[in-house]
Amino acid sequence: MKFRAGKVFFFCLFFFFFTQGAVKLAELYRNCPPCVFKRKLSGIDECQSNTYRESGHFEAFTIVTDSHFHYKKILLFAGLETVSGLYGETLEIPCHNGATKEEDILITKWKYDKGEGIPGDLLVKQKNKNAVIMATDEYKDRVSMAANSSLLLSAAKLTDQRTFTCMVVAREDIMEYPINVMIYKSPEGLEISDQAEALEIGKLTKLGTCVAKDASPAANITWLKNNKPLVADGEGISIRTSVLLDPVTGLSTTASTLEYSAKKEDTDAQFTCSTQPTVGSELVSSPVTLTVTYSTENIVLQVIAQDPLEEGDNVTLKCVADGNPAPTNFNFHLQGEMVKVEDSNTYTIRNVSRETSGEYKCSLIDDPSMEASKDITVNYLDINLSPSGNIVEHVGEALDLTLKIDSSGESKVFWTKDNIMLDKEPEFAALTYSDSGSYECEVTMGLLSRKASFDLIVEGAPVIKQLSKQLSEDAQHKVLICEAEGSPKPAVSWSINGTLLDESPFINGKITHKIKVVPSANLTVSCTVSNEFGIDTRAINVSSLNGEVRMDKQDQLDDSDQTKLVVGVVVGLLIATLVIGLAYWVYMKKSK
Ligand SMILES: *[C@@H]1O[C@H](CO)[C@@H](O)[C@H](O)[C@H]1NC(C)=O
Ligand SMILES: *[C@@H]1O[C@H](CO)[C@@H](O)[C@H](O)[C@H]1NC(C)=O
Ligand SMILES: *[C@@H]1O[C@H](CO)[C@@H](O)[C@H](O)[C@H]1NC(C)=O
Ligand SMILES: *[C@@H]1O[C@H](CO)[C@@H](O)[C@H](O)[C@H]1NC(C)=O
Ligand SMILES: *[C@@H]1O[C@H](CO)[C@@H](O)[C@H](O)[C@H]1NC(C)=O
Ligand SMILES: *[C@@H]1O[C@H](CO)[C@@H](O)[C@H](O)[C@H]1NC(C)=O
Ligand SMILES: *[C@@H]1O[C@H](CO)[C@@H](O)[C@H](O)[C@H]1NC(C)=O
Repeated sequence: MKFRAGKVFFFCLFFFFFTQGAVKLAELYRNCPPCVFKRKLSGIDECQSNTYRESGHFEAFTIVTDSHFHYKKILLFAGLETVSGLYGETLEIPCHNGATKEEDILITKWKYDKGEGIPGDLLVKQKNKNAVIMATDEYKDRVSMAANSSLLLSAAKLTDQRTFTCMVVAREDIMEYPINVMIYKSPEGLEISDQAEALEIGKLTKLGTCVAKDASPAANITWLKNNKPLVADGEGISIRTSVLLDPVTGLSTTASTLEYSAKKEDTDAQFTCSTQPTVGSELVSSPVTLTVTYSTENIVLQVIAQDPLEEGDNVTLKCVADGNPAPTNFNFHLQGEMVKVEDSNTYTIRNVSRETSGEYKCSLIDDPSMEASKDITVNYLDINLSPSGNIVEHVGEALDLTLKIDSSGESKVFWTKDNIMLDKEPEFAALTYSDSGSYECEVTMGLLSRKASFDLIVEGAPVIKQLSKQLSEDAQHKVLICEAEGSPKPAVSWSINGTLLDESPFINGKITHKIKVVPSANLTVSCTVSNEFGIDTRAINVSSLNGEVRMDKQDQLDDSDQTKLVVGVVVGLLIATLVIGLAYWVYMKKSK
């Protein structure tokens, strides 16, 4: 064998040297090692006698067909193409992409690089024949050839990431098309495990571990908070990543552990992890939300009560602390007394009184330094009016009025008499009949208001205020008017029989009585008023209407009539003087 190979080599050298006439080539073939037949299969064998590359495109081969050998130049196509496939699936590796016409192809052969440049044959197809599998190793059952010369590789593995070469013999040329194969696998999915129960504020806590299983290349895990990437800062965020390689499949499992120091605003934050596989779309884990725990920083005591808060009301104290979880046990400090309240943050004081007013506090049982306080003011407004109810007083006497106000704040007082507003508190130094009435005072303090009232009746013996007479317009009768004051309503009587013209209503202790008389003689008429407290009488002279009309006229004359008369007389005298003066002037003029 060795001898034959040597002969072939020299022949090959000569043949090449003389036919091609390339001196340069001969030089390069000086070190051409003996061409070794590695195997002989299906009558097609390959002897790589030497490797000579000119600009990386040229190789010399010997093809032996049915014990005949031929030299062929081999065109090696540069710019190694790469095809990528998915792990576990069938990968199609195209041969020449149409660079060679199908009908020109005599032989198509697929081989792969076993490493260190040693080729491993996969399959070969001669024109008009079926493809023959040459592989004896693990590729034996996984390779096939498509009609267009593509190599179909089933159940792609990571170990398939190597160079596959398609060799095409067409007429005088042998072409080789090497292709790099990359196999990718996306992780099975992303899962966050070892999830923390809760995060304590400011404490670096392991939030969870994100695992991307069985990927190639190893998944690059990114942690996100509310869809924003978290970057390790050596303080509040720490990310540790480990990659585990499966020795059998070569797939990597990436585990990324996030340690996180929570802030208060992280309470509802969503944590996810994601990875962007080399092929396929981004994978995102289901989100994780965590309880953020923190101790109370602020405590407030709220007072829940009606406004205004009055005696008899209920007051609820509510202690609000902002810790998470919220504290449930509190101490309420009530005017020197301390009450412990568990599983509730409220305490109710019922039926408050003015003594309830004061400062109240609450504090955390677990941390008594967290304390809040609030003042409670119970409003009260007590009034006492004297006199009250129905009172009856004698005219002319004094009545003392006292209004006592006991209140928690400044108050205002309003008085009314018979529902009419008074501008000040009434004073009764000497009661008059007009003081009678219904008095009410209203005291207000903010929204609180109290009322008190009394009904005053002033009574006393009647007094005739005026007794007067008038001549009727037709001078046929006289009207006598008796005006009196007194309470209760006095009875009015006359010493003469007359016709009652009018009796006024009894208001403010006043009454007016009018009668019509036709006196036949000069009379002295008296009016008498009386009630249970006394009697008063007064008389008036009334002249007769018969004959003595002048007298009557005089009766009628009042001051204004007399004034008119005087004015008339004076005017008359003035006119007379003027007439006399004029006559005298005319006479004097004539006599001259
Ligand atoms: C080769 O043929 C297969 C089917 O046998 C087809 O899926 C593939 O696209 C073809 N490849 C090229 C490069 O024509
Ligand atoms: C992982 O992602 C980071 C940030 O996007 C990038 O800097 C790094 O190169 C990536 N690593 C790999 C192996 O893809
Ligand atoms: C105070 O609370 C008691 C008991 O709950 C209730 O009966 C009463 O009506 C309340 N008083 C007021 C003014 O709300
Ligand atoms: C409320 O307290 C007052 C005394 O402060 C008492 O007289 C009254 O009966 C109490 N009312 C109720 C409903 O307990
Ligand atoms: C008034 O008239 C009545 C009868 O009408 C009579 O009895 C009485 O005496 C008269 N009184 C006077 C004062 O004239
Ligand atoms: C009435 O009185 C007047 C004087 O006042 C007197 O002149 C007259 O005579 C009297 N008439 C009668 C009837 O007495
Ligand atoms: C009425 O007249 C009499 C005398 O005629 C006289 O004495 C008396 O004072 C008069 N009374 C009044 C009120 O004028």
